[in-house]
Amino acid sequence: MPLSVVILAAGKGTRMKSSLPKVLHKLAGKALLEHVYDAARKLGAAEVVIVYGHGGDEVLKQCSHMDASWVEQKQQLGTGHAVQHALEAVNLDNDVLVLYGDVPLTQQHSLQQLLDDFENKIALMTVKLENPTGYGRIMRNQHDQVIGIVEQKDASDAQKQINEVNTGILAANGRLLKNYLDQINNNNAQGEYYLTDIFALAANDGIEIISSHPSAAWEVEGVNNRLQLAMLERIHQANIAEQLMTDGVTLADPARIDVRGEADISSDVFIDVNVILEGAVKIGSGSHIGANSIIINSVIGENVKVYANCIIESAVVDNNAEVGPFARLRPDAHLHSNSKVGNFVEIKKSVIGEGSKVNHLSYIGDTEMGKNVNIGAGTITCNYDGANKHKTVIKDNVFVGSDTQLVAPVTVGENVTIGAGATITKNTEDNVLVISRSPQKSIKGWERPKKKI
Ligand code: UD1
Ligand code: CA
Repeated sequence: MPLSVVILAAGKGTRMKSSLPKVLHKLAGKALLEHVYDAARKLGAAEVVIVYGHGGDEVLKQCSHMDASWVEQKQQLGTGHAVQHALEAVNLDNDVLVLYGDVPLTQQHSLQQLLDDFENKIALMTVKLENPTGYGRIMRNQHDQVIGIVEQKDASDAQKQINEVNTGILAANGRLLKNYLDQINNNNAQGEYYLTDIFALAANDGIEIISSHPSAAWEVEGVNNRLQLAMLERIHQANIAEQLMTDGVTLADPARIDVRGEADISSDVFIDVNVILEGAVKIGSGSHIGANSIIINSVIGENVKVYANCIIESAVVDNNAEVGPFARLRPDAHLHSNSKVGNFVEIKKSVIGEGSKVNHLSYIGDTEMGKNVNIGAGTITCNYDGANKHKTVIKDNVFVGSDTQLVAPVTVGENVTIGAGATITKNTEDNVLVISRSPQKSIKGWERPKKKI
């Protein structure tokens, strides 16, 4: 049976103490709700229905890329009420899985296990907790069959002793779910329509309730405040670090790397402490990423050395190149193989040709640089005239002396040598020496100004 996934995300999240709706807070750089949406998609959901409420406009705006039906729950009258609303948008012939927008880390295999064979039954994910306070408790009969769920606030002292709790995650056929939701009421301690009330009703009718556990309790933990958000972030990062190491990546300290996106890292990559990888990052084997470096949506080739404190964004670094320390590669920087970009160098929308070097204190923007070029310290491409950007072309084997300004648009011919301190405003021929500075003079007897008394 095709699967419809319902995600409850209408809660306000008061304890986040935030103007941002809770489900938009980020874990590993991605909204909590998006983690849950992605999990639904990975399960191959035929449709995803998201129940939203608080901060609705913001949620709709930030999640417009999700392929989902959005159902507004204007008043949060309980989880049962929320699912009732959702079912209005669901194909009731489908099976329905209920997930929560603030429970971001449920693993694929745990959900798959829950969904394994629940025809004519209700599947419920439960977990045993040392401290079950606050959760709905699972009631079972002497044959260990689930016969209902009692909420904390409605539980007797004896029921409060039960340590198997409701995660909230359940699956059932759409019609069966609707049938029991039509029968619930709000005569309880909180005056809410409890989704959990369907279990006693179904059990009474002889419907079997099957249960499964997640592999770890954190998989079903929700985010109610920023402490829990930080805790789940650390668990998630530890899981990623473990996976990287299993895949052959050396991490100087698995507790000091953050991956916020999809990192595709080959074996024999070494990653030093405090590295942040964001978005889609690919790193080829044998490469070394220095401490405190941030790499965002970039492709790093094989045997590349990124020294400490580099920021690389939307850039490509080919095999055997070297970057940093303290270098910044901005969008559309492309370092060809064996090139070097050194300290306090900024590169934007430029090609650095094979074997070329920009080793110290330079800005290279909108530049096409050939092979084996040497850029002296303090060279600046003046690419911006205050209104428009212009291009600099530096052909193969050029040697640019220190402290040169290249005023774009300008082309420097092949094999040219530029004397230090030049301001290049005109295109040059190939194979020439270019100098643009006044000859050195010595003025004898000149005195420095003296301070007036
Ligand atoms: C619920 C369960 C409880 C379970 C616990 C697990 C019920 C009645 N109780 O309790 O058995 O142990 O989750 O965390 O289901 N929501 C809506 N609309 C509403 C109400 C809630 O979208 O009208 C959403 C909330 O945003 C939240 C989720 O549903 O993401 C759970 O709601 P919450 O009120 O926190 O339920 P609990 O009291 O924690
Ligand atoms: Ca809750």
